[in-house]
Amino acid sequence: MRRPIAELWGTGSYTPKRVLTNDEFSKMLDTSDQWIRERTGIRERRVAGADESNACMAKAAAEQVLADTELTALDVQAVVVATCSPDRLLPSQACDLQAILGAKNAAAFDVGAACTGFLYALNVAEGLVAAEQAEHVLVVASEKLTSIMDWTDRTTAVLFGDGAGATIVRRGTTGRGILSSYMKSDGTLAELLYRPGGGAAHPPDEALLKDHSYYIKMAGREVFKAAVLSMADACDKALARAGLAAGDIDLLIPHQANIRIIEATAKHAGLPMDKVYVNVDRFGNTSAASVAIALDEAVRCGRVQPGMKLMFCAFGAGFTWASTVVQW
Ligand SMILES: CC(C)(COP(=O)(O)OP(=O)(O)OC[C@H]1O[C@@H](n2cnc3c(N)ncnc32)[C@H](O)[C@@H]1OP(=O)(O)O)[C@@H](O)C(=O)NCCC(=O)NCCS
Repeated sequence: MRRPIAELWGTGSYTPKRVLTNDEFSKMLDTSDQWIRERTGIRERRVAGADESNACMAKAAAEQVLADTELTALDVQAVVVATCSPDRLLPSQACDLQAILGAKNAAAFDVGAACTGFLYALNVAEGLVAAEQAEHVLVVASEKLTSIMDWTDRTTAVLFGDGAGATIVRRGTTGRGILSSYMKSDGTLAELLYRPGGGAAHPPDEALLKDHSYYIKMAGREVFKAAVLSMADACDKALARAGLAAGDIDLLIPHQANIRIIEATAKHAGLPMDKVYVNVDRFGNTSAASVAIALDEAVRCGRVQPGMKLMFCAFGAGFTWASTVVQW
């Protein structure tokens, strides 16, 4: 097992106040609480209001981790934001966050890996620390997915929610930190989960608004199968790189997309569900933010204790997938 180069120091998160239940969805769409719960495990999700932009949620999560670590924004040399639902397309969400935090000494940029974004961002942050480009990297994963999903499409709308999570990555100090990581992608499958319009290839026009191609489109069944296989692959690879067996893991914190995907991942890894952190029932799929929010919750409720070995894994549009093993 290698000595960690970088560690996660402190956590923070923010989820919007507004709770939207499955029953409320069943009044808007041809769906039911039973269908959504049985197929996904989701009971409710949070929906950001007009006063809860991606930047606001990112700032709230960032301020919590800064308070947790007793750092100020001036102690941060890089702000890395994982998101696929930025407030605007230019400049990056990270630059907006850098500005409102007053992180005057920091570089700032986004990482685009959809639901795998937080794990990709942790890898980038570890690299910045290893190269001595930064002492403290603020990693924030923040999503306002409800602004890019099609509220008239029952096959996607019921799945997503909003929120943000954050951590600081710094040089490993006491043997704790990132033990291994694995990242992968397959862009040939991009069109199974994507936003067809609104980018440079199909700039916004009236037709695009009419045919809803500005919103997330997904081939649910194919994505489901790929997610199960990819999260299993990621866990196997990260464990092998760390020289660990699944039995060494104290808590698996998987991407919270669907309870059936989570259960299949745990089963493949041979981990009982009491070693798996689950909050998909309360937040739905918050894309990049999902592992970051779950980690913060797990830390704050005492499920994560010093010395524990954690495994994160995620899968998302791209396709992208990744896993990270951390000594807490
Ligand atoms: C989306 C998902 C829950 C659908 O579950 P499923 O068991 O695969 O269901 P299917 O897509 O085969 O649809 C079955 C039926 O339910 C219907 N259905 C879809 N969404 C529905 C909803 N919200 N309420 C009621 N019925 C719904 C479909 O229209 C279909 O009806 P039909 O048989 O008359 O055509 C599931 O495929 C999934 O979770 N996929 C992965 C999604 C994901 O996690 N994406 C993000 C990855 S990061």
